[in-house]
Amino acid sequence: MTSKHSDAERANELRTRLADANYRYHVLDAPDIPDAEYDALMRELEAIEIAHPHLRTPDSPTQRVGAAPSREFGEVRHAIPMLSLANAFSDDEVQDFARRIRERLPGRELRFSVEPKFDGLAISLRYEDGVFVQGATRGDGETGEDVTANLRTIKAIPLRLRGSGWPRVLEVRGEVYMPRAGFEKYNTAARASGGKIKPLVNPRNAAAGSLRQLDPRITAKRPLAFFAYSVGEIEGAELPATHSATMRQLREWGFPVSDLVDTAAGVDGCLDYFRRIGARRDALPFDIDGVVYKVDDLAAQRELGFVGRTPRWAIAHKFPAQEQTTTVEAIDINIGRTGAATPVAKLAPVFVGGVTVTNATLHNADQVARLDVRAGDTVIVRRAGDVIPEVVSVVFDKRPAQTHAWKMPTHCPVCGSTIVRDEGEVVARCSGGLSCAAQRVQALFHFASRRAMDIDGLGERYIEDLCDLDYVHSVADLYKLTLDDLLEMKRRADERDGSTPETVKAGKIATKWAENLVEAIAQSKHTTLERFLYALGISDVGEATAKALARWFGGLDALMAATPDDLTQVPDVGPIMAAHIDTFFAEKHNREAIAQLRAAGVEWKESVPEREACGVLAGKTVVLTGTLVALTRDEAKARLEGLGAKVSGSVSKKTSFVVAGAEAGSKLDKAQELGIEVWDESRLAEFLRAQA
Ligand code: IVH
Repeated sequence: MTSKHSDAERANELRTRLADANYRYHVLDAPDIPDAEYDALMRELEAIEIAHPHLRTPDSPTQRVGAAPSREFGEVRHAIPMLSLANAFSDDEVQDFARRIRERLPGRELRFSVEPKFDGLAISLRYEDGVFVQGATRGDGETGEDVTANLRTIKAIPLRLRGSGWPRVLEVRGEVYMPRAGFEKYNTAARASGGKIKPLVNPRNAAAGSLRQLDPRITAKRPLAFFAYSVGEIEGAELPATHSATMRQLREWGFPVSDLVDTAAGVDGCLDYFRRIGARRDALPFDIDGVVYKVDDLAAQRELGFVGRTPRWAIAHKFPAQEQTTTVEAIDINIGRTGAATPVAKLAPVFVGGVTVTNATLHNADQVARLDVRAGDTVIVRRAGDVIPEVVSVVFDKRPAQTHAWKMPTHCPVCGSTIVRDEGEVVARCSGGLSCAAQRVQALFHFASRRAMDIDGLGERYIEDLCDLDYVHSVADLYKLTLDDLLEMKRRADERDGSTPETVKAGKIATKWAENLVEAIAQSKHTTLERFLYALGISDVGEATAKALARWFGGLDALMAATPDDLTQVPDVGPIMAAHIDTFFAEKHNREAIAQLRAAGVEWKESVPEREACGVLAGKTVVLTGTLVALTRDEAKARLEGLGAKVSGSVSKKTSFVVAGAEAGSKLDKAQELGIEVWDESRLAEFLRAQA
């Protein structure tokens, strides 16, 4: 197959095959060949075209990128102006729109084409004899910019029409947009580039910015897509009589038409569509900012005509905006239940995503630095669906003079303890633990849990009530609770919740619960040092570490006096954990809480330090990866730690073995690379059974 004839044939075959694959992928959403095969066919075609340049055609898929950068875009005068749509922001405004149509077309039954309002950039595509010849932006509606070279790089745009029967000249209009997944992927890479690539602000700006690149090679790298939604100039053939049939025809000719496009009867059908699409808005793979209703009958459209620059036959029904501009009054931090310190922007109230927003999360200190957001700044705030509002970007042009870069405070605004951020960690935390009111419920819940102080009957709901109603401020307060306190607390909680079952039986049940709880609290005073250490909730100190610390030091005072260096002597205590332990005991509030607990009668038997390794897995470091079936990750971790192992999150030369569940990924690869022993879940189960 080396003759010129067969090369030409093969090139044609490849072009058809590639255009077909493209159509299946972008229009039918039903790809039929894997990416690798597509790439291989593409390379084969490129090779033929390089060897025989005369076989290269302008509509060849190899020609999507190739044009040299231009210095400016040419102008394109639209044969038919590209107009815009009037907006409706309420059901009433949609009713008015329909009423105006009924007045002009009395007695006519109204069917509408109902469509998403894509949030991208309007574009016009001109085909002559079925070949894409020119593409333009909307511009001022009369004249746009010639962005043909950039549009050619978008695979969803056909370079040659499919099928037959197309007009000699066909101008298709639609929206170029950036799918959310592509936007996220691009931004993830941009954030990892250390400032080399600038993140994109939102998918709409991203689409517009990408199309306005003078170098099509840049556009080609942006994940852009296209939906057709109308027809402009046509010459040499008739189109169907309705808009919806025209859209079906465009689809057959190779244009992507969203499968959310539908038809609806009357205003009720339109409003129903608005609600159905609204409910799906956040789950769609692309941004939309409303829906569009268009009178479906094209003859009726012509009769209705235009007012000014908008058609009478169509309207955009907008969703509440998900982004708004406002100013940052201050940047505070919020301490979560686990002590995580999250920077929060306090905003001048702004109506966005259907609610008034006064706070927006800034996620963490890195994000604040990345955005460079400061008190006084004007910012864009986004609230999509039920997602918490966030600051998207700063409008730097509006930054007032004399602002200061934000820094994470050194102390917790709730309890005054130091805020620490470990190396390599994104999250900063309040080290107050036990004594921080923000962390109280979580700290008490952990303190009372079965493997810690084991206070039976003190569930999370009661802990919340005890905290909310001010009976307990610290763990030591638990030991001051009397039977009367508990009964009163329960009565007040029931009253507050509007559930006051004042029956004799309910009273008896409450009394029994309170008696049992008082007893359980009293019992819990007699504990072991390892349980007590675990109960303190020191960051990263699980049961195994608590046990190792208890054995190593024998008593609490020796442990509290230990330096970080002393601590790293303990088997499996690394420098980070040593720092956590050291910070915890250095914190005045924590020392006070411990003193109060001891004063309340919490006690254990101290022993002589036992400094040799303990447990069958003592000294071993294990990594869990993939999905375990019979045990949860936490259970497996606890069991292994209970046997003296250190369970680590990352594989290194020091790893003793890796337990790999289903779909284990990079950690398994790394273990294999380092020649580290790998156990599957059944081997782990067998081992644990043998130790039980
Ligand atoms: S039809 C004569 N349909 O909204 C009006 N426009 O203000 C022709 N848009 O510039 C436009 N989705 O960029 C139409 N399904 C849709 C649309 C849509 C988004 C944009 C388009 C246009 C603007 C109208």
